[in-house]
Formats: sequence, structure tokens, C-alpha cells
Amino acid sequence: MATHPLIAAFQQAGQGHVFAFYDQLDEARRAELLADAAEIDLAEVAALDRTLVQGNAAAGIDLSDLSPAPYHALPKNGGDAAAWAEAKRLGEEALRAGRVAAFVVAGGQGTRLGYDGPKGTYPVTPVRQKTLFQVFAEKIRAAGARYGRPIHWFIMTSHINHAATEAFFRAEGFFGLAEAQVHFFRQGRMPAVGLDGRILLEDKHRIAMSPDGHGGSLRALQRSGAVDLMAREGIEILSYFQVDNPLVRFIDPAFVGWHLLAGSEMSSKMVPKAYAGEKVGHFCAQRGKTVVIEYSDLPKARQEETDASGRLRFIAGSIAIHLLDREFIRRMATGADALPFHRADKKIPCLDATGAPVRPEKPNGVKFELFVFDALPFAKNPVVIETDRADDFSPVKNAEGVDSPKTCAEDQLRQFVRWANARGAAVPADATGLPPFAFEVSPLFGYDEDSFAASWSALAAPPVIAAGIVLE
Ligand code: UTP
Repeated sequence: MATHPLIAAFQQAGQGHVFAFYDQLDEARRAELLADAAEIDLAEVAALDRTLVQGNAAAGIDLSDLSPAPYHALPKNGGDAAAWAEAKRLGEEALRAGRVAAFVVAGGQGTRLGYDGPKGTYPVTPVRQKTLFQVFAEKIRAAGARYGRPIHWFIMTSHINHAATEAFFRAEGFFGLAEAQVHFFRQGRMPAVGLDGRILLEDKHRIAMSPDGHGGSLRALQRSGAVDLMAREGIEILSYFQVDNPLVRFIDPAFVGWHLLAGSEMSSKMVPKAYAGEKVGHFCAQRGKTVVIEYSDLPKARQEETDASGRLRFIAGSIAIHLLDREFIRRMATGADALPFHRADKKIPCLDATGAPVRPEKPNGVKFELFVFDALPFAKNPVVIETDRADDFSPVKNAEGVDSPKTCAEDQLRQFVRWANARGAAVPADATGLPPFAFEVSPLFGYDEDSFAASWSALAAPPVIAAGIVLE
């Protein structure tokens, strides 16, 4: 019997061991293994083996000619208030014209949180325990009503959580959104390899494959038809955010306006770093381009550099909030420019050469991931704007400690207190702004300071904010 062409290709590429147990498999399992194999670009894997696995390209991150990236400071920090107002006006116009859609990347595995299920189904709000997906859905509903135009929502999942994510939305009635407004698509996968560059098997009929990183979103948007759908609907800008951050203002007219004013292909929000060693990427300028240098790649001495006033020089921390121009996404997905892969050494359960399971205690292999911020140096006229951390960023990353469900719920409470007290509510709070009880503001009542103020003013009598109160 002739060898299957895919098997022959793997043999030729020195990856024939992937089919070592093929003869022991039934028809269905053979088909599964072949389907996994068909997803793999063998030339890409060979190139990554040369550059990232055998050659250590990560050691060669280019730190020459780096300076802090310029950004538009908030008016309260010296920015131009008239320019911010003009940006907001322009952004509102774009929202009313339906030129902006929301885009959440929800394909991650959420290993640090240790929650079994798509991370978007994790409950986060302090009283109602609304899930991350519900919070985002309600922000989209409220913003759609405000701008008189339903907002499309693109949701990137992975092969691991796609079915569960769709089933969740269905069971929840899409949280009141029209089903036709919500678009799910799956991100791509990459095989894991051993430290010798050989593709790992998870099972005799399964290759060890994992999501290709949030940067995989650019090619997945194109491949899934999302970019074409945007073009048909007249959507020019995608507002990119991560699934773990319920505070995110992803419908932010001023941000949209700055992006439009500059003719930017990719824009970003920054927050001033809280301290020199904070684990965030740094927005930097390098030979006329904007780049993000990860905390692990920027030498400590540079992270600690200060300017004449004693302020950190590399102050602009990335919080993974971007605007992406539709045709930029298409170009990145189909043109000659491509994002670089990053290497992550991991403990990867797999089979040894005899087919016995291996549960490694230390990293035994390499996963390859793409990062969305690596698209920045390819973008024309990229813009970085400052935002208030308290109004845009409090992710749920870890089960405990920093960036945990507890810190995130507290940051939501502080935000609700700020909004309410700005309207004269007199909610008690400690020195950090935290109230002594839990209450909640539904995104349908207010998803940012402006929408909150509008709903509050429309109340016949302002409520007394007390434990368990939910404004909705
Ligand atoms: P993280 O870097 O926090 O990774 O993702 P994670 O997988 O969610 O969590 P850990 O590291 O396993 O604990 C940041 C954002 O990027 C998305 C995540 O869903 C999250 O919104 N992401 C990450 C993807 O969509 N795909 C990926 O392949 C990786």
C-alpha cells in the first residue's frame, strides 16, 4: 500500500515518528492524527527549529537605539485638553457611523487562574457575580444604544474552548445581543516540539498542539472571513482587548479619535508603570518605529533609568488594549510582513518513543507563540495614548495575590465609588477608595463615567448606596 502523502512529507522532514503508532490505530483515530498533521506547516516548524530551538534567537533581541515611545498624556497630566476633546468628538462620530467593532481574544488556556472552562465564563462582579463575557456583552449593548448603532463583537476562541464558549452564549441567550452581531472564530494551533526539535505526540493519535498566541488573531481574523465581514459591514476599526480584564473601556471614543486623527494602523493605550520592575511590556521607539519590549527583555538598569525630574524614563506600560485598522490586519495576514514567533519552554505531557506517557517535572519541550504587539513596528503612524489604570485595567490572571479575582472585584468597587461620588452620592470608602460593603453598577446603567453620569441624572431620586445595591 502506498504511503499517505502527508506521512511521506513528515518522514521527509525528519518528523516521521509522529506516525510511529499509526499501524496500531483504528480508522477514526488515524483520521484524527492525519487531521492534526494537516494543520502543521512543516517548513515553518523546521525554520523555528533552526532559529528558536537549536539557535537561540531569543538571546538576540535588539535593544539598540531604544528610547521611550512618545504618547499623548491625559489632560490632567499635561496633555492638550482641546485635542482630547476633538478626538472624542471624532470617535463618537465614528461610533455613530458603525465604523468600530469590538474584538476579544479568548483563546488562552488560563493556566495561572486554574479555572476549568473558558476564562470568559469566570464570574467577576462583586454582587451579581456576572461573568466576564456578560460584563463585555452588556457594555456592548449599552454602547450600541448610546450611539444608535449595534456594535459587532468578534470573539476569538481556541480549539480547546470553542464549543464550550459558543454553548455558553447560547445558554445565556447571548446576554440580550442579537446573535447576528456576535462572531466566533477559532485561532490557529502550533505543534509543540521537544528540545531536539521533534514534534511531540500527546497520544498515539494526537499531536501535542496548542493555541498560537494572541498574535495568531491577525491571521485567524483573515482566515475565518472576519476581515471580509468587517468590510461588508463598513467596519474599519477593531477594538482589541483581552478576556481577563472587566474594567477595559473598549468602546472609548477619545481613543478611536486619536487613532483616526493620526491615520494610525494600530494604536495602543499605556499606563504609567507603577514601579520600575512592574511586569508589563514597555512602549519604546526604535529607529522611527514603535516597539514593545517585554519586562523580561529590558535590562533592569534601563527599567530603573529616570529623567531629570526623577520620573522613570521607560514609563509607558502596555496593558494589551489596541485599535487595529481592518486593512492593516489583512496586510499582516496575507502580505510579506509576518509576526515573529516566540519560544516558551514548558512541561509538556507527551509520549516517549515506546509510546509510554511522560509527565515531565521540568520543561521538556517548546511551544511557539505569536504576540499581537509585535505588529506595532509594521503599522503606519502608530499612536500611544495614556489612560487611567483605574478605569481600564484590572485583569484576573492568578487565583490569588496580584491580579486575582479579589483585586479585580476591589478595583471594580473603587470605580463604582468614584463614579457615584462624582455625582454626590457620598459612599464611604477607605484611603484606597474601597467601600466597606459590596455594591454593583451594571454596565447597562453605566459602563464609563459619562454613561454613568447620564443614567444617574435621569433618576427621579438618587438612591442611597448601601450593601448589596445594584444599579441597573
Ligand atoms: P495570557 O498571556 O494571560 O495567557 O493571555 P492565558 O493563556 O490567558 O493565561 P495563562 O498564561 O495560561 O495563565 C492574555 C490574553 O490573550 C488571550 C487570552 O485568552 C487572554 O485574553 N490569548 C492568549 C489567546 O487568545 N490565545 C492565545 O494563544 C494566548
